[in-house]
Amino acid sequence: MALSIDFNGLTTTHIGSAGIGESDLASLKGATEAALASLLADHKSGKLGFMALPDDQSAAAAAKHLAADLTARLDDLVVLGIGGSSLGGKALFAALSHPFHNLLPASKRKGMRIFFPDNSDPSTFAGLLDVIDVKRAAFAAITKSGGTAETWAQLLLITEKLGTEASKQQVVAVTDPSKGALRAVSTAQGWKTLPVPPVIGGRFSVFTAVGLLPAAAAGFDIDQLLAGARDMAARCRNTDVWQNPGALVAALLFHFDTQKKRPMHVLMPYTDCLRETGDWFVQLWAESLGKKKNGGHVGPTPIRAVGATDQHSILQMLMEGPQDKVTMFVAVDAPRTDIKIPSGFQDQPDVKYLGGHTFHGLLSAEQRATAAALAANGRPAFTIRVPGVNAYSMGELMMLFEVATGIAGGLYGVDPYDQPGVEAGKRYTCGLMGRPGYEASKVELDARPPMDAKWVR
Ligand code: PA5
Repeated sequence: MALSIDFNGLTTTHIGSAGIGESDLASLKGATEAALASLLADHKSGKLGFMALPDDQSAAAAAKHLAADLTARLDDLVVLGIGGSSLGGKALFAALSHPFHNLLPASKRKGMRIFFPDNSDPSTFAGLLDVIDVKRAAFAAITKSGGTAETWAQLLLITEKLGTEASKQQVVAVTDPSKGALRAVSTAQGWKTLPVPPVIGGRFSVFTAVGLLPAAAAGFDIDQLLAGARDMAARCRNTDVWQNPGALVAALLFHFDTQKKRPMHVLMPYTDCLRETGDWFVQLWAESLGKKKNGGHVGPTPIRAVGATDQHSILQMLMEGPQDKVTMFVAVDAPRTDIKIPSGFQDQPDVKYLGGHTFHGLLSAEQRATAAALAANGRPAFTIRVPGVNAYSMGELMMLFEVATGIAGGLYGVDPYDQPGVEAGKRYTCGLMGRPGYEASKVELDARPPMDAKWVR
């Protein structure tokens, strides 16, 4: 059973004039075919590589080997990384582990405890140091460029705490094979390393050691993860674009943004374990597609929600707020575990009907009902359906969104693999922090209009 996409809820049959029909698909077909052809050509020429990552058995073997070594010697793995160097691993960890993995005793856990402090927030990092034993933890410094300030701030602290000899045993680096400060320091210090292929960008790196090392350390079946990704990549090479899941998702969302003025794209899985997958999707979609183009600006705004929690929050906005949103549900056929709802308080009609159903039954009914209510209200939504959340389906889902992002980049006419807007902020930060070579950025920043007290309350 494979992941499927049901886009009935986007059609005129279901939502009337807000929807699409055969003629819309016909008008989208040429541009989608061209965007797909360009993506596939870039893979063939070696300019891009993310669709081929699941075929690289050696990366999986190396990640498993290093994870086994760390697991045998240490209790915890702390991932020092941010953005694309953290979010994919974090999404996999949340999706595939016991929801309270890090609280389980070692005898009941499959892998190491894993922590993703991510941000350089001192409260988070100091708090982390309160709950781990630094002497019993491995630290995976993950940075493609090798020079990210947040990651280095954490790594500098950890290496100072550990000292040179312990760092050699406990710090591992995942970075560019030859470039960058982390590669240079790793070589000099004799740290174990895994490479991030130069052709793979941060937010497309979950199927490299960036995602595979923490996944293997958490005890997940990374062969199944890669099998799901490989199968989805194969489906996404189909040149019949309406049979190609990546092309379909890209084309539909692009069309609703540019032709139907719906630039808000809400990802709403009906399971807690995909909450962090929503964060990963937000980064992928926003950082890849929000770009300057021909003196203007393009790109959809991704929004993360979780059902049923956000039925009690953002759903009101989806249902009756501005007509600028498309919702993508992720529905799960079978949960990893289910709980029967007991039949108590039979004299209460507001409660009685629940008895005998299950928690998952309730969640599924809520997803179906919300989809139907949105449709009845003329609000577009479609459903990505997975048989269950497991390593295979996570491989499918994440590869689906990566390919959709690549094709959407072609449709929007932007480069989805760069992030010049993020770089500008990084340059100013380096200027402020006194990094050599960034003096001009500091001068530029200082030349900005001063903050006028008149506007401060
Ligand atoms: O997707 C991207 O390229 C970015 O989000 C990066 O992953 C992020 O800036 C971290 O960069 P690095 O891996 O070089 O530390």
